Amino acid sequence: MQQTESALGIHTPAASNNVLRVEGGRPLYGTISVRGAKNFVPKAMVAALLGHTPSQLRNVPLIRDVDVVKEMLEAHGVDVIFDEDEGVINLDPSNIDAASATEIDALSGSSRIPILFCGPLLHRLGEAFIPELGGCVIGDRPIDFHLETLRRFGADVVKEADGIRLRAPEGGLVGTRIDLPYPSVGATEQTLLTAVQAQGITTLTGAAIEPEIMDLINVLQKMGAIISVDTDRTIRIEGVDRLDGYSHTALPDRIEAASWGAAALATRGDVFVRGAHQPDMSTFLNTFRKVGGAFDVEEDGIRFYHPGGPLRSIVLETNVHPGFMTDWQQPLVVALTQAEGLSIVHETVYENRFGFVSALRQMGANIQVYTECVGSAPCRFGARNFSHSAVISGPTPLHGADITVPDLRGGFSHLIAALAADGVSHVSGIDVISRGYEHFMAKLLKLHARVEYV
Ligand code: EPZ
Repeated sequence: MQQTESALGIHTPAASNNVLRVEGGRPLYGTISVRGAKNFVPKAMVAALLGHTPSQLRNVPLIRDVDVVKEMLEAHGVDVIFDEDEGVINLDPSNIDAASATEIDALSGSSRIPILFCGPLLHRLGEAFIPELGGCVIGDRPIDFHLETLRRFGADVVKEADGIRLRAPEGGLVGTRIDLPYPSVGATEQTLLTAVQAQGITTLTGAAIEPEIMDLINVLQKMGAIISVDTDRTIRIEGVDRLDGYSHTALPDRIEAASWGAAALATRGDVFVRGAHQPDMSTFLNTFRKVGGAFDVEEDGIRFYHPGGPLRSIVLETNVHPGFMTDWQQPLVVALTQAEGLSIVHETVYENRFGFVSALRQMGANIQVYTECVGSAPCRFGARNFSHSAVISGPTPLHGADITVPDLRGGFSHLIAALAADGVSHVSGIDVISRGYEHFMAKLLKLHARVEYV
């Protein structure tokens, strides 16, 4: 328990540090801070490849996904200076160059961001390579939208044994029309990062409009891009000849903020999350209140707390923005195990995001998972045999157990369950959490959790 922040930081702990002993059943209380969004910062770093002058990004968190993209950029000749204490990263792409397939493969293992290098590299170098992609196992996570998008701009996309090789046509990429069959965050970002310098106009329909995408549009506009967003998920991009560097402060991480809010509720605690930003979290806040949680929005953050009394069951459906984020679902489900009655959660973004509930069951939760679309309108996973609806019956006391982290958000929900449960839990594979939660161990200690690496 007496471990320091630096010893518990982002960089891969030794294998022996990958199991956390948690003495649960105590409320979390105190103040912690969140910095820039994991699902924005790496993409803004990739955008710097498009600039002919250096960029500066502020509010950068120390998480593994930032490290991966930093190393990928360095492998492509970008000069990266990261002031980790200040959270400021300077990126100079003046000497951009191709990296070897082996180098790209070695660096990109745990992340999905490398696919977003394609557009910028096709513009700057005329070619790109993507290896097998990593990321959380929460569904198939295909990249068909990405590849089809790049083809539409004129790229030659060839699948080879070690990955996918892409080449820009003679004369460069050309603007096009893209109709996304689903508002994919990644495919929308792919389109934006490619269209800004393609010749002519690109029209994207069915686009994702998450706040992180809007902030990427802010960055690209600062660089010289011309992008308009319509009310019907249509984005129109006018290609320009030249983009320059940007200076930008990243929007805060609304997933991390909500995760700590859910932890406060499940442990009957009281946590002030400095940096939490109400406008990006209003859907979460509505749900949090319906469940019986309380919050106070302050100038510099949001206080999340359990006001006493019973929690209420709810019917919840995850969806693309402005719906309830899929990434908020897993942490909140732990609090729902403490709500009175039956809660229903219908996951409509990923087909396989309930793997984490088996550990909660082991700890005493009563959760059934169904392949049907339970509780609300049918989604694209209904009748396809995916276990994508959950019914949670509560309240059920949780007790400590030995559990293993399945993925990033599922892992954080395991951590919350262990903190809420009576007795001792051992949470294995805890290192996965450092992919998206900056200094999570130091924050837990600050919130008076009884946790230590074993
Ligand atoms: C981003 O993933 C986030 N990751 C995810 O965060 C987040 O859950 C997701 O958006 C939805 O908000 C990053 O930003 C790095 P999608 P992304 O393309 O872009 C299907 C976390 O824990 N699809 O919007 O990969 C896909 O299978 C994570 O922080 C295709 O079918 O998500 C999924 O069902 C995990 N073909 C749906 O679209 C494609 O080519 C939405 O995926 C692409 C996606």
